Amino acid sequence: MKKAFFELEGWEERIISQHFPLITRTYVSDPNEVFLSKDKVDDFTLPKQNDFEIISIFVNSRITDRVLSAFPNLKCIATRSTGFDHIDLEACKKRGILIASVPGYGDNTVAEYAFGLILNLTRKMFLSIDQVKETSSFTASGHRGVDIKGKTFGCIGTGRIGKEAIKIAKGFGMNVVAFDARPDEAFARENHVDYMSLEKLLQTSDVISVHCPYNEGTHHLINKNNVSLIKRGSYLVNTARGPIIETEAIMKGIEDKIFAGVGLDVLEEEGETRDEMRFIAEGHPQEKELKTIIQNHILMRQPNVIITPHNAFNSQEALERILNTTLENVKGFEGGRPLNIVK
Ligand code: NAI
Repeated sequence: MKKAFFELEGWEERIISQHFPLITRTYVSDPNEVFLSKDKVDDFTLPKQNDFEIISIFVNSRITDRVLSAFPNLKCIATRSTGFDHIDLEACKKRGILIASVPGYGDNTVAEYAFGLILNLTRKMFLSIDQVKETSSFTASGHRGVDIKGKTFGCIGTGRIGKEAIKIAKGFGMNVVAFDARPDEAFARENHVDYMSLEKLLQTSDVISVHCPYNEGTHHLINKNNVSLIKRGSYLVNTARGPIIETEAIMKGIEDKIFAGVGLDVLEEEGETRDEMRFIAEGHPQEKELKTIIQNHILMRQPNVIITPHNAFNSQEALERILNTTLENVKGFEGGRPLNIVK
């Protein structure tokens, strides 16, 4: 089968070539050859060759119906990620294209990162670091934070990553409350977790951390209507997906001083925010998208907001696990034994 891997970093190419020795960066003519590229795939960036049957992508690609029509022979997309909201599932289904993902490559990786954001906010570490680096001033004045021990950790989504986050929270001596569409009662009993409604979680938590997937049911789960339920002086962290929280709700929460701090590894319209020049030049910007991009920039400048560029997955160990599972997914599909297929 003709295969292509997109959005690659150099070290990944070395590992892929150990599994598929015939590689090319120009044109695949032999089905045993693999096309390797650093480029992402989206409406604006399509490769010259289009007869691949399997493509592997990362989260910065956007697989739309238009992209799919550019790959008439495509049978499988192996995404090197847990989330798959960058792929139009319905369009794939209609065309009989399977999607293989990487479940559970870095549950601890993302949970550890969420706590990195939480401690940065609660202890104002980012401000102290900036001050020392930028001014060489060694004064702690203005950097007093709060302890997290004894505070309430509100976990939205208690799957693989949420459970790791809960264990870390317990390690810090926090009380844990949770909201999930499908509560895991056995885990809750064992780990002393209190499941409750989203509304009650928002009212109860000192630190809210989002760990559910983005889907129809989680679109704007936290929004401008329910943000006012959130406890004054609490912290909000999102390492899941941007559109789970309405950007306007974050703006409102900051303006109304509901949040003492907000940490975001993901943003609504993050692709467009990353590549604004191209979006404006080549896309068809809608008023809502432009508004969100401007709001993202306003948030970036807020003193109590820290934003990182979708980086929570990005540890060496996690990336190696992602690539190894993806290679198994590609080989499995090729060998007639599809693995980790998104249902
Ligand atoms: P998972 O599938 O193990 O757990 C998700 C949990 O969310 C499940 O318990 C599920 O019941 C719950 N859930 C689903 N729909 C819900 C709804 N409407 N309301 C409340 N709860 C709901 O997923 P996992 O591995 O824990 O990953 C969670 C998300 O983290 C991924 O979908 C992905 O978007 C994000 N992620 C972000 C990364 C980053 O680099 N920032 C890296 C990896 C994952």
